[in-house]
Amino acid sequence: MSSKEKREKDKEREKEDLKEEKRFFDGKRSFSIRELEIQDLAEVYNLGETCFRADLWPMLYRGWDEYEVTTMFNTDGDYCLVAENDEFEKGMDPDDERIVGFVLGTVMSKPGTAWSYGYIVWLCAHPNWQREGVASKLIDKVVEAFVENEGVRIIMADTDPSNERAVKFFKKKGFDQERQHVFLTSNIENNPLYSNLLHKSRAQALEEQYLKKIRRLAVGSSGLAAVKNQKRKNVNSKKNAQTAKQKKSKKKKKK
Ligand SMILES: CC(C)(COP(=O)(O)OP(=O)(O)OC[C@H]1O[C@@H](n2cnc3c(N)ncnc32)[C@H](O)[C@@H]1OP(=O)(O)O)[C@@H](O)C(=O)NCCC(=O)NCCS
Repeated sequence: MSSKEKREKDKEREKEDLKEEKRFFDGKRSFSIRELEIQDLAEVYNLGETCFRADLWPMLYRGWDEYEVTTMFNTDGDYCLVAENDEFEKGMDPDDERIVGFVLGTVMSKPGTAWSYGYIVWLCAHPNWQREGVASKLIDKVVEAFVENEGVRIIMADTDPSNERAVKFFKKKGFDQERQHVFLTSNIENNPLYSNLLHKSRAQALEEQYLKKIRRLAVGSSGLAAVKNQKRKNVNSKKNAQTAKQKKSKKKKKK
């Protein structure tokens, strides 16, 4: 190892020691809450993929996709917050995380009533950052925004009943009115009431595909006909020019 490499390694070790020391005294690492920005979208989506896992909570997993993040960012930007690691340095430690948690919320109002409800749609703390107060701070900030912006008085959150840590978390945050909610799903393919709809739409899609193909062929063949006509015209005009030339030279010879 060269002396330069050794110096860099020592520097890195020193930085790590400082981080450790800070963690030891603070007990927790430091992060800041801010609004979600466009450059965070991919990281938030990927973090959600690790949080809302199909093997643990299939309903959460099914609802989570990239459109969920981008749509909520567009429609409810004020209530989409991220927790950012204060010690993150780009390119320093490949295992270090920048975004360590997020909350995506919305406000629902019922027409004809003065009530509006703040709804915590998605909440996630990075697996390496759990029990460090990330979700707690995110909830505090989003509730603050709900109240300040829209005078919300009721906040709702939901999750799978088997998601014990989320249930414990929400209870700790004062969500004490628990109601069971039943989710039902139906695979339309095997549902005699609706399976015909699937067959119909598939048949329609096939028909459209077939018509597209025919249209493409028709355009192709008319194009071919046009090329052939042009070629024929070119040949004829060449022939005409040749016979005119021949006639001219014959006349000259006669003279
Ligand atoms: C639930 C979740 C958001 C909690 O995030 P977190 O940042 O670890 O939570 P906090 O550190 O702010 O915890 C605050 C309190 O909640 C409770 N809590 C959080 N995680 C807990 C756990 N695994 N077991 C028991 N209690 C827990 C504790 O009372 C904790 O306070 P304490 O650490 O002082 O005891 C996180 O585990 C997560 O991302 N889970 C996967 C996604 C999910 O379930 N989202 C919610 C539904 S959309």
